[in-house]
Amino acid sequence: MSLPAQHAGHDVEEQQAPHQGFQAAGFSAAETAAMDTALAAAARGPRGANPLVGAVVIDADGTALVTGYHRGAGTPHAEADAIAQAREAGLDLAGTTMVVTLEPCNHCGRTGPCARAIIDAGITDVVYAVDDPHDPAAGGAATLRAAGVRVRSGLGAVASLDLNRRWFDAVAARRPFVTLHIAQTLDSRIAASDGTSQWISSAESLADNHALRGRIDAILVGTQTVLVDNPRLTARTPDGAHAERQPLRAVMGLRPIPEDAAVNGTDGKVLHLPTRDPREVLDRLFDAGVRHLMVEGGSKILSAFLAAGLVDELIVYLAPTLLGSGTAALGDLGIGTLADAQHWDWDEASGGAVQTLGRDLRLHLRPATTTSSDSTPRSDADTAAGGN
Ligand SMILES: NC(=O)c1ccc[n+]([C@@H]2O[C@H](COP(=O)([O-])OP(=O)(O)OC[C@H]3O[C@@H](n4cnc5c(N)ncnc54)[C@H](OP(=O)(O)O)[C@@H]3O)[C@@H](O)[C@H]2O)c1
Repeated sequence: MSLPAQHAGHDVEEQQAPHQGFQAAGFSAAETAAMDTALAAAARGPRGANPLVGAVVIDADGTALVTGYHRGAGTPHAEADAIAQAREAGLDLAGTTMVVTLEPCNHCGRTGPCARAIIDAGITDVVYAVDDPHDPAAGGAATLRAAGVRVRSGLGAVASLDLNRRWFDAVAARRPFVTLHIAQTLDSRIAASDGTSQWISSAESLADNHALRGRIDAILVGTQTVLVDNPRLTARTPDGAHAERQPLRAVMGLRPIPEDAAVNGTDGKVLHLPTRDPREVLDRLFDAGVRHLMVEGGSKILSAFLAAGLVDELIVYLAPTLLGSGTAALGDLGIGTLADAQHWDWDEASGGAVQTLGRDLRLHLRPATTTSSDSTPRSDADTAAGGN
């Protein structure tokens, strides 16, 4: 795994893999347990523009008082969520310890700086897993220390870095976090041979997709999908109304987009990127302020992003339907032999690896940390016994 430079040599005191049941040096058993709880809470949030973050506040006896987590861009950070819960419950956090999976932020974004909220709540100790890669030199830890808060870091660092591995990679590469969406049949078709594709998915899958459209910053399709499907690419509620938050609609490809294409809409939130280079698309979108992109299709665009290794999260809506022919979900990924296959891990975060949505399965994956060369080689005898 390639870590951002600022994580290569920071003060990580704990070097082992996820530490459930293990007490890290320099941290109490209660802090270690709280970090496990914070990591589990973090995984409940949605992947995207922001990292998955959890926070637990414990008192002097080590009793957990509140657990907060971040529910996605535009919502309170985990620390603010925990502090708000304490306030609602009438709990005084003076003299307590906050255990959090990422360094508290120091900036005034959409939700206010967490370092200030922690100081104002009277919390006197902060234990966090890893530095905030956005501003390591002047991050929240420095602000907390300047205010007299005792700050330690490194507990749960390995697990926290792994949880947000691809988010850290995207931040370091100055590109949006990329979610790739495929709505396909059991035999991996995204359209029938006559081009029809609406709808392969169940109503529940479509609703899930539209909820995601309401959270992302931009949605991307290829010119062919615009010409064939004439999609609107808006986020809509199940009753067809426009959702409050709409993504930027982006189209990549060299052919012009017809003036009367539905994707143009009337709000000006559309961008035609006359290129076939996924990295160039990401650069352009990043410069336009996009931090979470969903790549919706079709086949050539999905394949181009996958072949370039630029997909951080994969969501597959799998319909129990067969077409036999038609447009395959994916084309050439530049893989000629099994040893070069792309491997993916089931992603248990953000709702789980497998969900049932109506008649469909929703599969949730992220790029594997291991490669095929890590798998145990099979002997000739295995192969001879039955290669299939
Ligand atoms: N089920 C689903 O979830 C879903 C979602 C979307 C689409 N679809 C279906 O997918 C089908 C369209 O898929 P498709 O693969 O034919 O078209 P596509 O991926 O939508 O668009 C392909 C076009 O994009 C341009 N392009 C941009 N970057 C490219 C690259 N790196 N490599 C190759 N071409 C690139 C090329 O056109 P230029 O000549 O303009 O450069 C190319 O012809 C439609 O039938 C649609 O209904 C299904």
